[in-house]
Amino acid sequence: MLRLENITKSYPQRGMVLSELNLMMGEGDSIAITGPSGSGKTTLMNIIGALDRPDSGDVLFRDSSILQMSPDESARYRNRNIGFVFQDHLLLPHLTVSENILLPASAFNITTEEYHEKMSYAGMLMEKTGISDLRDKYPYNISGGEAQRVTLVRALINKPSMLLADEPTGSLDSRNAGILGSLLAEINNELGISLIVVTHSGSLASKMRVRYTLEEGRLIR
Ligand SMILES: Nc1ncnc2c1ncn2[C@@H]1O[C@H](COP(=O)(O)OP(=O)(O)OP(=O)(O)O)[C@@H](O)[C@H]1O
Ligand SMILES: [Mg+2]
Repeated sequence: MLRLENITKSYPQRGMVLSELNLMMGEGDSIAITGPSGSGKTTLMNIIGALDRPDSGDVLFRDSSILQMSPDESARYRNRNIGFVFQDHLLLPHLTVSENILLPASAFNITTEEYHEKMSYAGMLMEKTGISDLRDKYPYNISGGEAQRVTLVRALINKPSMLLADEPTGSLDSRNAGILGSLLAEINNELGISLIVVTHSGSLASKMRVRYTLEEGRLIR
């Protein structure tokens, strides 16, 4: 599904961050990436999500290079295939929970019928993640753990084939981190969405089928 070939990335002040990095991921796989702060985990996720470009190497998604895409194609790749969850929830404060969730759905020109389909999918996901009762609340009236579950549902609304989660439990207490971790594993298992999770948490990493450490610019199994 995803193949990274000899990815190299450096920053002027920092020097080499990723160095001849390789990664293979099959459809439906789940991968945990751990590694020290500053080792390049977010840089790697941004490259996979087409938010950033490597200096050299290639990123193949279902056998096509995402680096050869035009800006439009690249945006389409991201919208259609990738769901993002970051450490901090980034919900829009003036929109309700359900409006926040449906926001990415309106990034496309969709028919009323498709919109209703999205709404019912959102309903199913909110049920699954235990946030149905929050649909009309605003982000400042819900807890951090709940907000992170809203973010997860929002990331799934366009049925991405791959979910990229960068420290998704980093700002949560252990109970909420446990809930979110289990939901991530469930979503991977039951919905078949491939998952890459960057985490410092051993217990979250242990829920993934494959674990790597990012060290000296490469992934070590
Ligand atoms: N846009 C940028 N310009 C210059 N340097 C950058 C940029 N983005 C990241 N870096 C540097 O590249 C290195 C890797 O950063 P990155 O954010 O990928 O690390 P990380 O593994 O995600 O760390 P953390 O665990 O703290 O989130 C760091 O030294 C960082 O300072
Ligand atoms: Mg990071």
